[in-house]
Amino acid sequence: TNTQHQYRSESSLGQNPLSCRTLSTRRELYERDFPVYKQPVEVGCFSLDSERRFFNDSRQMRYYMEPDRNPNFNLRDGYRDRFIKRDDSVKERLDHILRWIVANKSKINPTGAAASPRALDVDFVTWRGHLTKLLTTPYETREGWLLAVTRFRGTFYISEVETEAARRERENRTERHEEMMYWGYKFEQYTCADNTHSLPDPGGVVNTNEAFCTVVQTRLADHRLLFSGEVDCRDKDPKAPAAPACYVELKTSAEICTPKQRSNFHRFKLLKWWAQSFLPGVPRVVAGFRDQEGVVVSVETFHISKISHLIKNEYNCWKPTVCMNFCCDFLSFVKRVVTEDSPRVVYLFSWDPYKDVTYSAHRDAQYCFLPHWYVEEMTR
Ligand code: A3P
Ligand code: MG
Ligand code: MG
Repeated sequence: TNTQHQYRSESSLGQNPLSCRTLSTRRELYERDFPVYKQPVEVGCFSLDSERRFFNDSRQMRYYMEPDRNPNFNLRDGYRDRFIKRDDSVKERLDHILRWIVANKSKINPTGAAASPRALDVDFVTWRGHLTKLLTTPYETREGWLLAVTRFRGTFYISEVETEAARRERENRTERHEEMMYWGYKFEQYTCADNTHSLPDPGGVVNTNEAFCTVVQTRLADHRLLFSGEVDCRDKDPKAPAAPACYVELKTSAEICTPKQRSNFHRFKLLKWWAQSFLPGVPRVVAGFRDQEGVVVSVETFHISKISHLIKNEYNCWKPTVCMNFCCDFLSFVKRVVTEDSPRVVYLFSWDPYKDVTYSAHRDAQYCFLPHWYVEEMTR
């Protein structure tokens, strides 16, 4: 039966499965044993300051201060007068990760580029957020995606391209939606301190340019991954386990008042929360449940390893194995499709809900995303 399973995720366009041009996202096709996913190892970190400048260090790390179980945090406070919002029309692509790679080449390539036919000893370089989108794809019914892939010196770089639909949504957000996007960051300010011997400062400015990012290495089946993701804060106890096990993800969500709301929370929210934190090995999510007026009425901790048990009673619910197997098969699909190794060639993978994944190849500059400084640094 193993041979039957080998290519079952692909639609059978041709006799030879290797010639298939599409990848199915139907859930049933990915219900098999959980693939090998190695414990993610933090290989480094970087920070982005209040002006979005890169630093090869942990200066933006924050420390989790456990709040009251019923804290009454007002998330609307400061939206008008103490909020500096990152310009999300600026597309940073993989640039920050690439800067980290250039600054830390020796850490990920112990034998040195000269000893290896590859510039980097990994198969894929990407953002954690792009992998989160892949994990949730078999269950996504609203938003499609576009992922650009360039093969350069044997490594596949995956960088998201904003879809037309996403751009329209971003440019036409309601005032209410704009404010609600602030609430998540305000909750972080109420629960995080800048160092272990200080307290959170709810009177300060919320600046969403600031970020602390972890860089982790791991393996999904035969895919060696290097990715980075933003981390909200860490356990302030100096005796806490090493990163990423000491990290804490913060979330806000509407308070749950009815069985229907609880079911939706399990089916949709917990899927996103699980995928985002499972990938880099962040063990817990602290959730602030807020009312319609943006007041946090309760706080609850969710352990990532327990989420799959929490959802088991939901009918027709999402399954971690489907998420991981789809991601794994997508990465295999990329390896088969993306054959030309050149920083000037981009393969654009495209997906819309209820459709298969398709791709197109581009030789024009429009989609190129590896900067010249990176190509030059890795070619010397
Ligand atoms: P919530 O997660 O509480 O909704 P993160 O939780 O990933 O650290 O992100 C912090 C906040 O950024 C989120 O708070 C949300 O307000 C905003 N945010 C994250 N991803 C977003 C997205 N794709 N679109 C819009 N806002 C987003
Ligand atoms: Mg965050
Ligand atoms: Mg968060």
